[in-house]
Amino acid sequence: MKEISGTTELHLFVNGEERRASVRPGDTLMRVLREKLGLTGTKCGCENGDCGACTVLLDGKPVKSCMILAVECEGLAITTIEGLRDHPVQKAFAAENGFQCGFCTPGQILNAAALIEAHPEPDDDIDREWMQSNLCRCTGYEGIRNALAAARALRGKP
Ligand code: FES
Ligand code: FES
Repeated sequence: MKEISGTTELHLFVNGEERRASVRPGDTLMRVLREKLGLTGTKCGCENGDCGACTVLLDGKPVKSCMILAVECEGLAITTIEGLRDHPVQKAFAAENGFQCGFCTPGQILNAAALIEAHPEPDDDIDREWMQSNLCRCTGYEGIRNALAAARALRGKP
């Protein structure tokens, strides 16, 4: 991690692009993505690590971006929902109505994408445990489950 005082210039790779931002030591990754880089698809639900709405991929692994300091991410690769345009998981959520109000959906899609990458074959126990980090206040869990199945079926298809 960089030695810092005041603000520091942070250097990230976000959705495949090199991005820089001036950040303070206490800025979370979520705040930097939303407020400095304009990536408002990353949602702020609880800012406490409970809801998963702020989930992004950090070097391919799902993390709650409200719980990570931006300075800890120096030089790392981040994927936000804006980087999953036309991704099979995004298409599957749309096709299977895997959302209602949509607030939790970016985090659900990113976590689901990581799940399917790690576990291409369905397993109810693993799926349930993996996805429990993301809450849906609309309780649209059936649609989310259907979207996981559809995403796995779409995987590898053009
Ligand atoms: S906003 Fe990060 S877990 Fe809720
Ligand atoms: S779709 Fe509304 S919170 Fe999940």
